[in-house]
Amino acid sequence: MLDRFGRKIDYLRISVTDRCNFRCQYCMSEKMTFMPKNELLTLDEICLIAERFIGHGVRKIRLTGGEPLVRRDMKRVIQRLGRKVETGDLDELTLTTNGSLLGEYADHLAAHNVRRVNISLDILDPVKFAEITRGAKVDQVLAGIKAAKQNGIRVKINMVALRDFNQGALIPMAEYCAEQGHDLTVIETMPMGDVGADRKLEHISAQEFIAPLSDHYFVRPIEHRSAGPARYMSVDPLGLRLGLITPLSHNFCDNCNRLRLTTDGKIFMCLGHNAHVDLRAVVRNEGVGAVDRLLEKALKLKPLRHEFNDQLNGSAETLERHMNVTGG
Ligand code: GTP
Ligand code: 5AD
Ligand code: SF4
Repeated sequence: MLDRFGRKIDYLRISVTDRCNFRCQYCMSEKMTFMPKNELLTLDEICLIAERFIGHGVRKIRLTGGEPLVRRDMKRVIQRLGRKVETGDLDELTLTTNGSLLGEYADHLAAHNVRRVNISLDILDPVKFAEITRGAKVDQVLAGIKAAKQNGIRVKINMVALRDFNQGALIPMAEYCAEQGHDLTVIETMPMGDVGADRKLEHISAQEFIAPLSDHYFVRPIEHRSAGPARYMSVDPLGLRLGLITPLSHNFCDNCNRLRLTTDGKIFMCLGHNAHVDLRAVVRNEGVGAVDRLLEKALKLKPLRHEFNDQLNGSAETLERHMNVTGG
């Protein structure tokens, strides 16, 4: 699949549910409402659509949410899509998860070809972790991470950079990740949905956020790439691989390779735009073959880049959609 700008699209991110057992302050509002259950694709429909996308050249699939592991029967989906890695139809099946349920799922993931996971963890301090997630327990997440590692799954920690909240937590996080052999990625907050906080005040560029690391360690850019937009550094002598995801301070859309499927059956071609194609009704009426036509339409909608900077500055209309709908 090629878009209008010649970008090759081979990475599908599927938000399998918009629900989550956490309520991270930068992601959701306190009184979040979720999609009615009758509007969701069934898991069978999700797999059928994903398989059709694979037929069109998707080589990597990431399951996200909300929290993907809170959706019932996810083991079936993982088994079915994991088989595609075995047959060579997919290069990679991964998840982005808050880690809280990995204790229960890690062995199943490992058995079905999930070789790495990205885990959201913004701070190690239990009190501040409970504050940012509105009540979650960091120990449960750390236990989940441990289970992943014990099952041979590689871990990348996602740390959202929040001004005046977790910059002081970066060095302990870097040292924890280095000790455990995890990668670490720092992410700039994106203005998605009303969360009741001032996005402008909480924003800090990844460069500014990581600056204190250089007082203690030697930080230098390296060539490594993962499937996503992170640019990587090496932090020595820790031996940590540190990624920076910089939607606001350093645009990476030129290399965008992805499309997104939401749990209610919409294809979004960009995290930061509202343009989408609705698959659910058409697939239900005409069968999954209709995906081919709709995908062609969706490809034409892929914009050159997001407008998060303008949205943050108030010069473009902000997105109503929260991160948990399109799955980051
Ligand atoms: P890998 O490189 O494959 O490990 O994936 P990733 O880092 O893209 O995935 P992950 O789900 O861990 O996403 C980390 C952060 O990057 C999330 O906050 C996402 O919202 C953000 N992100 C991922 N893809 C995009 C993108 O295409 N555009 C923007 N603006 N942000 C993205
Ligand atoms: N901006 C940036 N990252 C966010 N995440 C959730 N909401 C936002 C936001 N508004 C992160 C989560 C998770 C990833 C999928 O997206 O922490 O790691
Ligand atoms: Fe849930 Fe992830 Fe959003 Fe936090 S960032 S509320 S863990 S979906």
